[in-house]
Amino acid sequence: MKKNKISKNWLIKQNKDPFFRQSKIQGYRSRSAFKLIEMNKKFKFIKKNSSLLDLGSCPGGWSQVARKEIIKGKILAVDVRPMEKINNVDFIHGDFCDVNICEKIMLYFNNKIDVVLSDMAVNTSGNKALDSYRTGELCISAMSLAKKILSENGVFLSKIFMGSIFGEINERAKKSFKNVVKYKPLSSKKESKEIYIFCKGILKI
Ligand SMILES: C[S@@+](CC[C@H](N)C(=O)[O-])C[C@H]1O[C@@H](n2cnc3c(N)ncnc32)[C@H](O)[C@@H]1O
Repeated sequence: MKKNKISKNWLIKQNKDPFFRQSKIQGYRSRSAFKLIEMNKKFKFIKKNSSLLDLGSCPGGWSQVARKEIIKGKILAVDVRPMEKINNVDFIHGDFCDVNICEKIMLYFNNKIDVVLSDMAVNTSGNKALDSYRTGELCISAMSLAKKILSENGVFLSKIFMGSIFGEINERAKKSFKNVVKYKPLSSKKESKEIYIFCKGILKI
């Protein structure tokens, strides 16, 4: 199929998607915003004074949602892609796996924080199994960072894809957090293997 026919089909499909249409109407930069809105309704974890780290923030839908909920706390967004400014959200442009970026994140908060979000996904390569594995690796790295910077009752919420690395992520989460729940929001496309893992309360070993 020709490239402009593919993008025309993509546009028709997007316009039929109620979450995509709502994101345009409500001024969210991504339809993913509704996934976080739904998960926050369910788990009620973003509080008005929360300090929050949003890993893989671009284009900014989740940070916009966090900004609406948080009145007093700090919000830091991080992405390898540049992100257009959101008021009262600070942004670090870089790969969070890079030690210098990690150091900048730690320095920014200089205290334990309440929430670490990761909606990170690798660029699609065409090999779904490999992509889901590599996105799983990002989740594992984000979990390691979360364990270092979260307060005792902190929350780590991350995207994962059902696939070969899922079992390992689940095991690690159960060893590190008191409460682990897997959840697929309604706004996550049915045909996608994406789900989210919600982890709360650091386990002291
Ligand atoms: C699905 S998008 C996130 C959408 C976002 N939650 C929103 O609502 O707008 C995934 C993002 O993860 C970012 N990402 C992937 N690997 C990363 C890494 N190692 N460090 C930082 N960001 C990364 C990508 O650049 C991409 O922008």
